[in-house]
Amino acid sequence: MWLPECASTNTEAQRLIGQNRATDGCVVITDKQTAGRGQRGNRWEAQPGENLTMSVVWRPTFLAVPDQFQLSQAVALAVYDWASGLLGPDPALRVKWPNDIFFGEQKLGGILIENTLSGPKIQSSIAGIGLNINQREFAVPTATSLAGLTGRQYALPALANRLLECLEKRYLQLRAGQVAALHRAYLQVLYRYQEPRLYEVDGQPLTGRIQGVDEAGQLLVEIAGQQRAFGLQQIKYLPN
Ligand code: BTN
Repeated sequence: MWLPECASTNTEAQRLIGQNRATDGCVVITDKQTAGRGQRGNRWEAQPGENLTMSVVWRPTFLAVPDQFQLSQAVALAVYDWASGLLGPDPALRVKWPNDIFFGEQKLGGILIENTLSGPKIQSSIAGIGLNINQREFAVPTATSLAGLTGRQYALPALANRLLECLEKRYLQLRAGQVAALHRAYLQVLYRYQEPRLYEVDGQPLTGRIQGVDEAGQLLVEIAGQQRAFGLQQIKYLPN
């Protein structure tokens, strides 16, 4: 469903699930979110009518709870596929762990996955995706949009359809159990992978080299010859 306005498409999708009205693969898109949510409890701000703001509901009952990150990887790759189809296979296009879409040092979009668990299984999963499309001005210089990168103007319904095709392809790959291939593809497009770069850990700036991501979705970084695993709140990327 394409709504003119809602608080958050993730919240709307959650409501549909609660009412038993969300079928596998159902999509909520809106022109305007009044309370868009981002990772780490942040707000997600997007100029109304200019961007893609959507949530897809799946029932990945084939996934065990400790394997949740596999879905996050598949969604990030789908968005990467979509963006590289539009921008070409530019090495500046990257997935920033866990699932931000970056072009160079600027964020093109973000993903917020919210899973409902039922014992050892995932009962439902909401993949909330926010992509900057025609918006030209941002509150921060670290954000960009497709239009900002290409100088073109885009029709949102056509872009949404292309994105849904990419999502379906990666979701089916996950459902078919091609987990190793998904992981390899994720590492191939991972921002800063294997590069010595600057991070902040426990308030300290440190040089580290991303070595990969473990099964729990933690970032593996080699620091001073030692590999360490980090959760989202435990490491900050510093510019360098
Ligand atoms: C992030 O980078 O912090 C994640 C942003 C996710 C934003 C999308 S927009 C559609 C969906 N609904 C929300 O409230 N959030 C996600």
